[in-house]
Parts: sequence; C-alpha cells; structure tokens
Amino acid sequence: MPFRNRYTGLIDTYRDRLPVHDDTRIISLGEGNTPLIRLHNIPDMLGKNVDIYVKYEGLNPTGSFKDRGMTMAVTKAVEANSKAIICASTGNTSAAAAAYAARAGIAAFVLIPEGKIAAGKLAQAMMHGAVIIQIKGNFDDGMRLVKEVAETAPVTIVNSINPYRLQGQKTAAFEIIEELGRAPDYHCLPVGNAGNITAHWIGYCESSSASVDCVTEACTFCDGHCKYAGGPIVSNRPVMIGYQASGSAPFMRGDMVDDPDTVATAIRIGHPQSWNQAWKVKEESKGWFDECSDELILSAQKLLTEEEGIFCEPASATSLAGAMEDIKSGKIKEGSTVVCTLTGHGLKDPDTAMKQGQSTFVTVDATLQSVEKAILSNM
Ligand code: F0G
Repeated sequence: MPFRNRYTGLIDTYRDRLPVHDDTRIISLGEGNTPLIRLHNIPDMLGKNVDIYVKYEGLNPTGSFKDRGMTMAVTKAVEANSKAIICASTGNTSAAAAAYAARAGIAAFVLIPEGKIAAGKLAQAMMHGAVIIQIKGNFDDGMRLVKEVAETAPVTIVNSINPYRLQGQKTAAFEIIEELGRAPDYHCLPVGNAGNITAHWIGYCESSSASVDCVTEACTFCDGHCKYAGGPIVSNRPVMIGYQASGSAPFMRGDMVDDPDTVATAIRIGHPQSWNQAWKVKEESKGWFDECSDELILSAQKLLTEEEGIFCEPASATSLAGAMEDIKSGKIKEGSTVVCTLTGHGLKDPDTAMKQGQSTFVTVDATLQSVEKAILSNM
C-alpha cells in the first residue's frame, strides 16, 4: 500500500505563512484540511446556474473553525511561557480553548453567558477541564470582563482580538484556493465578532497577485504577520458577504446592539470586536452585510441536512440562508462560484435540532405490524 504522509495540522502545513519559528513547540490536534463539499440538490432547487460549495468547518477536532485560530493562539501562548488562557465565549471558542489548553498542559478559564450555550459546547468545556465561569450577562459583558481581568491576572486572552487567532483562521482561504485553483467569486460567512470574515480576507489577500496594497492594509489586522511567503498566487479575490441573525445584527443597524437575541446562539453578539476590520473587508472586497430571520436560518439548516446530508449548527446555516436569498434575487450573479462557510457541527446544539426533527419521530409497539405500518404511512 502506498505510504501517505500523516496530516499534522495547519501550522505544519502552512508554516511558511504563519508566525512560528523552527523550534516553536506546536500545539495541534490535526485541525484544518476540512472538506469543501459541492452542493447538488440545493442549487437544482434554486433553479439558478450557480456553483455552491460549503466549507465544512464542523469537521475540525472540536467541531468548529475555532480550532484553526486556537492552535495558533495556544502555540504562541505556550511559546511566551503563559500558564493560563482565558476567553469569553458563546460556546465554540470555550470548547476549543479548553481542548487546546488540555493538550498544552495549561489552564483554561472560560466566561459564558448563563443559559445561552448549546449543550454540546458546554459538555466539551467541562470534559476538557476548563474552569467555567457562567456570568449573568451576555457574550459582550463577558468580553468586557475578560479584557479587564487580563490587565492584572496572568492569563492570555484567546478571543479573536488575539492577533494569532486570525493568522490561524486565514488558512481556510488557502485551502479553498488550493482546491478550486482560484478564489471563489463570492464567500459567505456568518458574522458575530467578525474575526473570521477578517481572517478569510487576510488569507485571500495574501494569495492574490493583485493585492500588494491590500496585503499591507490587511497587515494592520494581524500584527504585521501576514506577509506573503509561499503558496499558490491567484488573480482574483472574492466578494465577501457577512450574514447576521436579525435579532443580533449590529452591522445592519450600523451601530452596536445592546440586547442581542437569536436562536443561533453562537452569533448572539451585539458588540463585535472586529468592527472596523469587517467594514474594511466589505469595502475592499466590494461585498455587503445582510440579515436573516431565525426562521430562515433554521430552515436553511434543515434543508442542508435533508437535501445534502450535511449537519451544521444554526449559526453556520446563516451563511447558506443568506446566500440562497441573494442567489434568488440575482444579487449573487448566475455563473458564479460561491463558497459558504459552515462554521460549526450540528451536533453542537442537539436541543435546537431535536425541536426541528420531531415530525419524523414516531413511537410504536414492538411488533412487526406496527413497524410496517409506520414505514408505509411515512413512505
Ligand atoms: N459561527 C459559529 C458556529 C461561531 O461559534 C461563531 C463565533 C461565528 C460563526 C462567528 O464568528 O465571531 O468570527 O464572526 N463564535 C464565538 C464563540 C463568538 O465564542 O464561540 P466571528
């Protein structure tokens, strides 16, 4: 059997484009290298000639794109001899922080909003041994407190305000370019803090032949570490589209939202940390922001599971929900290639999923007749 090199994570893969040294101890769980899946049935249903791919980030080790950023942030924290990391989180960051801290042998403190964390994410943080501090407030309160406490306590912040997070997350753009041989025409993402849309833009700029000026600008996003050092160069960059949940859409309101609410708890954020950067991404890429109702988000999540066999969490489905609306209206042009990032796995939030799946759940007697009847009546 031919020997295939073992995949050892994104820092090893993109070492030439990341701020690490030859002797840096890499803290990795084999993150990155996620599938870019071409949709078949949903484009047919839309009746438009558009090629839609989903980047299934739910297949990262802790089930979300956060692992891309966390491998870098924790690697650099350990390099700086930090013994503890801290974050505020709507769930996924806390799961990733807890896992990578466990791997590194350091402590993790996570601040989470009371009652607004999906069950899977909380289970992860608990199992990995993080100290969980549940606050009677929302994510934005948690973020404010994390910044305040880190001024005096010996802890490294691993939210996306940590510039190394975006460096790790930019690698998703590299992978997409490698697979498509070019950048997509449109890249759609759910937006909360807006770190991920910013990170993707850095990745696309670094891979673009026409981007010298913009790479320089992008460098201001990331502590000057995003100098191009290798990898394929392509001639295009995508239009970046950021979708928010209607109840939690500061980019649509043009101002901070003090009491955000949405079923997509991962993006229940009213005070985005990468506010200025995201506006810059929108301008430079000639993109836009838009909002999706909770109903639209959940129906896109269901559609993806039923029609394509791909299970993502509600926040992640916001990218597809928004893209479908913009494809239908023609704002996303026919003949184009669209990538939607599915940021987290559907198993993260079993409660929301079970509420949606009830119509196909029947309980019958344990007899052949009852089972046959259940099958026939549901054919
Ligand atoms: N999708 C998922 C599943 C997320 O968990 C998040 C953010 C986003 C999208 C938005 O990404 O903030 O970079 O714009 N989750 C953070 C957390 C806030 O704490 O897990 P963003």
